[in-house]
Amino acid sequence: MRNVLVTGGAGYIGSHACKALKAAGYVPVVFDNLCTGWEDAVKFGPFERGDLMDRGRLDEVFAAYQPIAVMHFAALSQVGESMSNPGKYWLNNASGSLNLIEAAVAAGCLNFVFSSTCATYGEQDNVVLDETSVQMPINAYGASKRAIEDMLSDFGASHGLNSVIFRYFNVAGADEAAEVGEFHQPETHLIPLVLDAIDGKRDALTIFGTDYDTPDGTCIRDYVHVCDLIDAHVLGLKWLEDGKGSRVFNLGTGSGFSVREVITRSTAVTGRAVPFNEGPRRPGDCTKLVSGSVRARDELGWRPERSTMDRMIADAWRWHQTGHYDK
Ligand code: UFG
Repeated sequence: MRNVLVTGGAGYIGSHACKALKAAGYVPVVFDNLCTGWEDAVKFGPFERGDLMDRGRLDEVFAAYQPIAVMHFAALSQVGESMSNPGKYWLNNASGSLNLIEAAVAAGCLNFVFSSTCATYGEQDNVVLDETSVQMPINAYGASKRAIEDMLSDFGASHGLNSVIFRYFNVAGADEAAEVGEFHQPETHLIPLVLDAIDGKRDALTIFGTDYDTPDGTCIRDYVHVCDLIDAHVLGLKWLEDGKGSRVFNLGTGSGFSVREVITRSTAVTGRAVPFNEGPRRPGDCTKLVSGSVRARDELGWRPERSTMDRMIADAWRWHQTGHYDK
């Protein structure tokens, strides 16, 4: 049995990872405290409820399953909340990850795939980022993720832990079969909020800031289809199994979309108007986050073929219409 411990496997990205891992012949063992995840998203392997702050529980699960690798998705991920409550982010993300890394090393599980973020780069004067760009996070979420990257590097040097670190840009879309999809409570991400506004499930969308230094005044992000993102994780796992060692990869497409462009494409794809209004900037938001993905393409052979804006909106809309969203 090739068990992979998937922390946060009941969440949006983790549940897509479990589906892909199962399809690739692994057994995804979900470890999740359900603080933001959903038990009914655990469909592709065993579920172990637990908290990263509980080292004893982690040791139990490592002993029971003897995973060949860890995929670590579990984290708090709201940029705005991390600005108002940074302690929560440092405790859950940084301390929780330290427990997990120590438990993995103690169990002899030395392959680790980590879900990091472009938020570790911070504000960088409209450049296209690559893995060598300096990391200067401007919010506690990004800072906590950067700290975890440093931990992985230190445990690599001291204990031979091999890590593939993926710095995600903005993840969007859903499984084409709509078996799993995006559902956060509360929801803070742009595309699901746009879709909610379209069908009246929530109030009109508020555009956070229209005075940024971009062509239309709204922030620009690089959106990646969740299934493409997860393809990279399976390739990253194989990379580790092949003994290729620790590496960092950005996962973006190199194309940026402004908030207004996402609204326009959402109307085009769904055929429905997006009610919106314009509000002030949200603390912690960068003007533009766009990645080059040369390294992931060249070294992993990653091809983000589903990551067109229209495809991501269409897949998210299909999932949205399944009603899973109305829990
Ligand atoms: N936005 C709005 N109105 C909203 C919600 C978002 O205008 O109601 C704007 C934001 O200001 C931002 C863009 O839409 O400019 C995208 O915002 P999201 O909240 O969807 O995504 P973020 O770029 O803030 O961050 C997300 C995740 C982070 C992750 C980051 C990069 O929340 O966890 O992508 O991976 F780090």
